[in-house]
Amino acid sequence: MRRIHSFYVMSLLVTLFMILYSTIHLETHSAEPEDAVMHLRLQIHDSDVKTQSPKLETFTSPPPDVHNVSVSDGFRQTIPQNQAYWNRLLYLSLRNLDKGENPPRHDMHWSRCRETNQEFLQTNVHDFSSYPVLFRDFVQGMNCRSSPVLINQPNKCVSSEEDGANQTSLLFAIKSAPGNFEQRQAVRETWGREGLYHEGLRVRRVFLLGKSPQDDPDLSPLLSFEAQHFGDLLQWDFEESFLNLTLKMNVFLQWTLKHCPHVSFVFSGDDDVFVNTPALLSYLLSLKGSEASQLYVGHVISTAKPLRDPNIKYYIPLSFYDGPYPAYAGGGGFLISGVLLQPLYSVSRVIPFFPIDDVYMGMCAKALGVSSEAHAGFQTFDIKEQDRENLCVYKDLILIHQRSPSQMKKLWKGIHSPLLTC
Ligand SMILES: *[C@@H]1O[C@H](CO)[C@@H](O)[C@H](O)[C@H]1NC(C)=O
Ligand SMILES: *[C@@H]1O[C@H](CO)[C@@H](O)[C@H](O)[C@H]1NC(C)=O
Repeated sequence: MRRIHSFYVMSLLVTLFMILYSTIHLETHSAEPEDAVMHLRLQIHDSDVKTQSPKLETFTSPPPDVHNVSVSDGFRQTIPQNQAYWNRLLYLSLRNLDKGENPPRHDMHWSRCRETNQEFLQTNVHDFSSYPVLFRDFVQGMNCRSSPVLINQPNKCVSSEEDGANQTSLLFAIKSAPGNFEQRQAVRETWGREGLYHEGLRVRRVFLLGKSPQDDPDLSPLLSFEAQHFGDLLQWDFEESFLNLTLKMNVFLQWTLKHCPHVSFVFSGDDDVFVNTPALLSYLLSLKGSEASQLYVGHVISTAKPLRDPNIKYYIPLSFYDGPYPAYAGGGGFLISGVLLQPLYSVSRVIPFFPIDDVYMGMCAKALGVSSEAHAGFQTFDIKEQDRENLCVYKDLILIHQRSPSQMKKLWKGIHSPLLTC
């Protein structure tokens, strides 16, 4: 503990030094358009923010409201206090919170947030060097939260049409990878269609993208065409990878609070699931007031714990996290109330990033005292083999695991067919 403590003191000193240094730097080389320097300027003169390049946009958002954050006892009882690195970080943060201190600053400049002291990690995590490369990457980037936006849709939730058209009843926030053009198009042509549905429900759609690895083909011209043509791509300046999905969800929360703050419900899911949008909307319409404001519903996984096999995607080293997972809704697709987004974001400032995005969402919800609600209509692990060709089964479901673009088209047509009698 003491080591961590002295690290924070040290990093504070280093940060102070860097601020001083950059200020001097700014004065002596004022012509140099260096990002880091601009960032410092942006922090100081928040008012001339709008004239800066759009890439710096994320740095200009006001500090989130963290005054009323409290973390439930239920969450504290679920996560044990022990020697694992993440558990120690959490309890350090909770102690600070209980003392009334501000959560650690995560808005370090994007280009510097990965410069975590290797020695510090080696000392605090005895087997750090045996972690898989990507996992080490994750641990080093745990404080990186303010990714610049590469492609934005600032007017997604603004409409020039009739009265009340700014209202968004449901926002589809679909996790996608840069190269998944065909999946995205299938979603647009089927369950993700934007517009006004029955009872005046307005549905909008965004795809959430990271960027392709550096050695991959450059898709940016294609993506900017796609973004212009469909107006539904959001892309951030981090590498698309499984261990960056928690970051993706977090920057999406920031984006929504800024650009779509009055959304009633958000559906977060993958680009290869099938969603029965009419059934989903009917379900939303059936909710009573209190249910509607505390909604966190999906396929709930309630007794999961970390998997310790280093060869699998969900691997979590024992020295990193030791404890069970709180109940969480599977990340293939779940629904959440819009009014929960600000509290979730605020509490995420206190809870260190966890490598598995849906588990992290479950942790944040639990910390707010919101429990995940299981709904049998969400089938993120797929339905019985013998039911997969039976359209009547799909008619009653809300979400079905993994379907190819052509299966998606076929299913969508099928459940809408007037000839379908169930
Ligand atoms: C929608 O939002 C825009 C921008 O904030 C505003 O100018 C417009 O008046 C709003 N329209 C309605 C119908 O509220
Ligand atoms: C996440 O994105 C960052 C920024 O592009 C990258 O450096 C890092 O390697 C990625 N993390 C993982 C675990 O892939």
